[in-house]
Amino acid sequence: MKNKPKYKRILLKLSGEALLGGGKFGIGYRALANIAQELEDIHKLGVEIAIVIGGGNIFRGGTVKEMDRVPADYMGMLATVINALALQEVLEKRGMHTRVMSAIEMKEIAEPYIRRRAIRHLEKGRVVIFAAGTGSPFFTTDTAATLRATEINAQIILKATKVDGVYDSDPLKFKDATKFDRLTYMEVLEKHLKVMDATAISLCIDHNIPIIVFNLGIKGNIRRAVHGENIGTVIKG
Ligand code: GTP
Repeated sequence: MKNKPKYKRILLKLSGEALLGGGKFGIGYRALANIAQELEDIHKLGVEIAIVIGGGNIFRGGTVKEMDRVPADYMGMLATVINALALQEVLEKRGMHTRVMSAIEMKEIAEPYIRRRAIRHLEKGRVVIFAAGTGSPFFTTDTAATLRATEINAQIILKATKVDGVYDSDPLKFKDATKFDRLTYMEVLEKHLKVMDATAISLCIDHNIPIIVFNLGIKGNIRRAVHGENIGTVIKG
């Protein structure tokens, strides 16, 4: 196995569901510990790690029909802050240095997001966890991930999912679903593949940031991705 990582600075997008473990709601500490172990492995390789985390394990705004989108989105953003603090805690327990930066100012619990500070933290080897999405309603955490990746000049977006990559239909529901090894941004949009929303993809198009969609459930996959091994689905221009 090669030891030198292909990517020096990455943006890892974790969905809130990645933190569930076996449960239906909240934070599964075994799941968090597994993620932390993988992050520690790549951190030792000298990879600069930024993370955008979702909040769907705590609150899923879009599914609450009784609520308007704006308050629901703000509640979702607060859920991402809870997840960010949980991830920070497990990483720091392992001796890693981390900073949570929030897009919504809440100075008592996290630093406010300042791009130049975020880059400084990364250069100093701190894991930076971006919380509260973009800070604005109507934007997904995938859009926050592509925005932050662009701002910090990440070389790649690693999008962790429950399946091995992007399929033509939901592989958890359809046995004959076919996986794509490679896709262009335009194919994602034209085929209406539900990998990231159009706002997120259009940011990737404008800034030419590749995305690897991969299965977080397979141990070692984050390391494989940073080494440039063929896993999941690669989406490029
Ligand atoms: P360098 O100056 O690059 O070494 O970065 P630093 O983050 O160590 O500097 P600083 O002295 O600003 O921060 C020390 C600690 O305070 C770190 O744990 C920061 O995360 C934390 N910190 C800094 N600003 C804030 C803030 O606005 N809110 C909260 N809650 N913590 C902060």
